[in-house]
Amino acid sequence: MNIRLATAGDLLGMQACNLQNLPENYTLRYYLYHAMTWPSLSYVAEDSKGRVVGYILAKMEEDAAEKNEPPHGHVTSISVLRSYRRLGLAKKLMLLSQEAMATIYKAEYVSLHVRKSNRAAIGLYRDTLGFEVHGVEAKYYADGEDALAMRLSLKET
Ligand SMILES: CC(C)(COP(=O)(O)OP(=O)(O)OC[C@H]1O[C@@H](n2cnc3c(N)ncnc32)[C@H](O)[C@@H]1OP(=O)(O)O)[C@@H](O)C(=O)NCCC(=O)NCCS
Repeated sequence: MNIRLATAGDLLGMQACNLQNLPENYTLRYYLYHAMTWPSLSYVAEDSKGRVVGYILAKMEEDAAEKNEPPHGHVTSISVLRSYRRLGLAKKLMLLSQEAMATIYKAEYVSLHVRKSNRAAIGLYRDTLGFEVHGVEAKYYADGEDALAMRLSLKET
């Protein structure tokens, strides 16, 4: 398994992986916007044939300054194909993106949303990476499920 920065050539593979794994889907244009605007924040995991088996699509929050918030990153989407799960891929993808957010963009924290019922993802964020619940956003998802808004400080202590 190889983990590397995502390039424009990976976007279709990332979109295909997303479509298999999550109901929250995005236009190719939105993937391209991430890759072009924050080229060091999105990563892919590929198998020996170069097929995308996992990805993280991430960005810097664009209106942070207007909202008087410190610079911070945001995970738009992350997923790993079912047969490649529990191998540590998502953890590695998260850590690489977090590191780039902190070093390149001076992000003070990283934020994300997760379904209240998503035990695997909450396990990854809270138990493995140390995220905390910052709030609950009622009916955040299209089907009416609430989201946990989670954050992890990237400031060195
Ligand atoms: C959530 C997801 C990305 C995790 O990917 P993964 O590569 O399997 O995760 P990792 O192997 O890096 O797991 C790291 C840790 O996360 C936690 N974790 C992962 N899957 C878990 C599960 N099914 N149940 C409980 N904890 C889980 C564990 O703490 C795990 O550490 P461990 O294996 O040492 O116990 C994957 O399950 C997935 O793609 N799910 C569908 C898409 C999705 O929900 N994305 C997140 C949207 S917010």
